[in-house]
Amino acid sequence: MDEELLDILKTSKVHVSGEELGKRLGVSRTAVWKKISKLKAAGYDISAVTNKGYILNGTEEDMLNESEIKENLKAKVFGKNIYYFNELDSTNNEARKLGDANADEGAVVVCDMQTGGRGRLGRPWVSPPKGGIWLSILLKPFISPNQAPKITLVAGLSVCKAINAVCHVKTQIKWPNDIMLNGKKLCGILTEMSAEIDKVNYVVTGIGINVNIESFPEEIRNVATSLAIEMGKTFKRKEIIKEILFEFEKNYFKYIAEGSFEEFAGQYKKYCLTLGKKVKVSGRESFFGTAFDISPDGELWVRKENGEEVLVFSGEVSVR
Ligand code: BTN
Repeated sequence: MDEELLDILKTSKVHVSGEELGKRLGVSRTAVWKKISKLKAAGYDISAVTNKGYILNGTEEDMLNESEIKENLKAKVFGKNIYYFNELDSTNNEARKLGDANADEGAVVVCDMQTGGRGRLGRPWVSPPKGGIWLSILLKPFISPNQAPKITLVAGLSVCKAINAVCHVKTQIKWPNDIMLNGKKLCGILTEMSAEIDKVNYVVTGIGINVNIESFPEEIRNVATSLAIEMGKTFKRKEIIKEILFEFEKNYFKYIAEGSFEEFAGQYKKYCLTLGKKVKVSGRESFFGTAFDISPDGELWVRKENGEEVLVFSGEVSVR
């Protein structure tokens, strides 16, 4: 992708001739034409008019690629390397390949559509073209494997704050890390890890956000939603991605440096919709109760119907 050429076209409101572009880029008109063809192949809508030159149309379009995400990106480590694909089976699979190949921390894999998007507990994750943000981040935390699940809580809090800031909306977190809007699921996070007994090799945090999806399959229509459905307008995925990378990078490095979730627990509680609600906890033992607090370690306190107070570490918690 020729960033310089793209930049000239983006900032020009009028046609720019091949000759002018050639001069500014220090290349021949034929080379300009080739670069333009590449930008077109990447999805940019560029028209060529005889005797006038080239113009970029539809700069308001929701284009997603490495260069669009890197433009004005405030994050420094997350997104330093971006691997963009039109289509993947799952961004988590691709990020795991990068992890196995010892790629740098903060590498971001993002695509327009997933053909085998995966959710928690082996569920599929609907990921239609341009419908949402399908993204995974490669992390290499120097922590013990049992500390890794808290990265997902930090990610959930960061994503919730980022969506709220960019989209002027009030999403909430359903413990541990589903992001909900108006009672339906807007975003899910799937964290996977490669580790030895006492050492994390890498962690992949996969984030799926339903941004511009207009409708969902019948089976999940009652439980899933998108920003477009709830807000009645579309959003630019890249703006949300940039804020997530910035917010998550800041919180992730703080968590790793301090080695504790305590610092985030207060904020997490503010966004957590599970607190104060009647819940069903399903796991080895299933029970009903009322969620009443988040521990400094990010676990959920539930008061059973018989008054007993238990700390829930993992498992399915449904809000009734
Ligand atoms: C959940 O079940 O709530 C987690 C859903 C996670 C979906 C995202 S989309 C990007 C990344 N790639 C995947 O295959 N899954 C995650």
